[in-house]
Amino acid sequence: MTQIIDGKQISKELKDELKEKVTAYRAQGIEITLAVIQVGNDKASSVYVGNKKKACEYIGIHSLSYELEEHTTEDELLDLIRRLNGDDKVNGILVQLPLPKHINEDKVIETIDAKKDVDGFHPMSVGALSIGKKGFISCTPYGIIELLKRSGTDIEGKECVVIGRSNIVGKPMSMLLLRENATVTVAHSHTKNLKEVAKRADILIVAVGKPLFINHEYVKEGAIVIDVGIHRDENNKLCGDVDYEDVFPHVSAITPVPGGVGPMTIAMLMKNCVNAVEIQK
Ligand code: GUN
Repeated sequence: MTQIIDGKQISKELKDELKEKVTAYRAQGIEITLAVIQVGNDKASSVYVGNKKKACEYIGIHSLSYELEEHTTEDELLDLIRRLNGDDKVNGILVQLPLPKHINEDKVIETIDAKKDVDGFHPMSVGALSIGKKGFISCTPYGIIELLKRSGTDIEGKECVVIGRSNIVGKPMSMLLLRENATVTVAHSHTKNLKEVAKRADILIVAVGKPLFINHEYVKEGAIVIDVGIHRDENNKLCGDVDYEDVFPHVSAITPVPGGVGPMTIAMLMKNCVNAVEIQK
């Protein structure tokens, strides 16, 4: 029987645990605050930002909302970030990506104080992860590790194949799997014989950004498949990078879209906000 890995349920459990932690902090007089910045009004970004604020509310994290006009200059944005860096009441700073083209994203990420980098995108956070030091971890790959562990998967010694090498998912994913003592292969658009490479995986993590790209020909019988993609198909229905119906009979466990990886990303952002208290001590 194929196990459906329920990200909605697992993220709820995690958020309830965090809620308890936040309540305990409040009893000690510690309030957690996340500053959320959105530039412009990209529709998808507005939905993500709204969900992040809702999660804060649920857990008891105070959120500060900065909705800036599309034509905001890079200097204005950097000034706001510096002001939030210097505000002791602010524990986390999140700038929703993508930013308008006239703003340099790298510069923005590097301006956020690494001690408040709850997205885990700052070079200091990425470096800390790669050498096994404490720091913030990019929320999507961090959420995938949590999904695997909480659904009863032992990662140690497993053959893991990550398809995709982005800074936000693929690269930190490979680091986290290594940290869990997996054997890790990172495949990408230049990988030769992708089907054979993907078929080696006990755990296949797909972050290619192409709807329904992975079918059963890429999957070893009995593998565990984690689908990071989220798209709309021709009927406007949500789908992932994996052809779920085609792959399902061949795998031992799989994440659905929606309701798999997506809810975990926000739960891990909340976890990073709670972790911020310790990191800032
Ligand atoms: N845009 C898409 N995903 C993310 C994310 O995890 N964090 C931020 N800040 N922007 C995003």
